[in-house]
Amino acid sequence: MAAAVRDLIDTSRDTLRAQFRHDVLTGLSQPRKAIPARWFYDHRGSELFEAITVLPEYYPTRTETGILMAHATRIGRMVGAQHHVVVEFGAGSATKTPLLLDAIWTAGYVPIDISGAFLHESCDALAARYPELPIHPVEADFTRPVALPADLNAFPRLGFFPGSTIGNMEPMVATDLLRSMRETLGGGSLLLIGFDRIKAEVELVAAYDDAQGVTAAFNLNLANRINAELDGSIPLDALAHKAVWNDERARIEMHIAATRDIAFDVCGQPFAMKRGETIHTENSHKYDPRSADTLLLAGGWEPLQGFGDADDKFMVILARAMGDEQTA
Ligand code: AVJ
Repeated sequence: MAAAVRDLIDTSRDTLRAQFRHDVLTGLSQPRKAIPARWFYDHRGSELFEAITVLPEYYPTRTETGILMAHATRIGRMVGAQHHVVVEFGAGSATKTPLLLDAIWTAGYVPIDISGAFLHESCDALAARYPELPIHPVEADFTRPVALPADLNAFPRLGFFPGSTIGNMEPMVATDLLRSMRETLGGGSLLLIGFDRIKAEVELVAAYDDAQGVTAAFNLNLANRINAELDGSIPLDALAHKAVWNDERARIEMHIAATRDIAFDVCGQPFAMKRGETIHTENSHKYDPRSADTLLLAGGWEPLQGFGDADDKFMVILARAMGDEQTA
């Protein structure tokens, strides 16, 4: 890899460490403890998430993959014959990426992910499959503005945001992110984005509390990570995984619950939890077609076409960045 790119990545890694420390200390100091879900994804967390995607209870990944396969030709036609730079937000293992890259004309691929090691592994696999394709991995928190490689400036952009990751954000944050994506990608850009749909509570809860306990391990890995990276002393044997449906907010919530009163340190600061108290670790908002369209519009993206599955479990929406023209 070029030296300049290395420097950039090393700098952002220090920044990420400082942000992790800040988010954990702030989150544990609140009356209702909460840590942002992005911190699940260290190397182990990214591996555990990959294991989740193939669980029998976790329908989103295979459903979205099916939608992309079924509608690839149609998506390709709508994107058109121009070469686009594909910018993937939270690329992870990038397993769905070939479905898109094979369907459209591409000038370059820019995967952005918070787990650098994982990102580079998946880029190696994509580079082997697409030897001609310029690939520019960016290790960063994609919720902050990201500079795109200047040599690809001439090409229109297609943002790819699969997996219903948008659901991990509260609507206000999701709106900010959509607007910042519009800034990053530019006017006239396209966005292909996945939303998980509202469905029966039993099915939703099972998807986040699987029989094999993989999601529990994924959730509790965050406590491991705090102990390892932030000099923590959280007693892991006193923690339990919890997944609940919050109907008012139309979201699944994951929590780490204390099974007895505990006290521990993180970065030299003392914390305590009462039995039953939780750390809120993730929201996964679910949408219906209208609420998804409204969210996109609020973020400056005009929905062009929705693609779904036969059981209405999941949807993928193609949207275009709205211009600044005045409307009624
Ligand atoms: C695919 C990252 C959005 O909310 O479904 C899976 C992550 N959390 N099981 C989701 C996740 C618990 C997830 N995202």
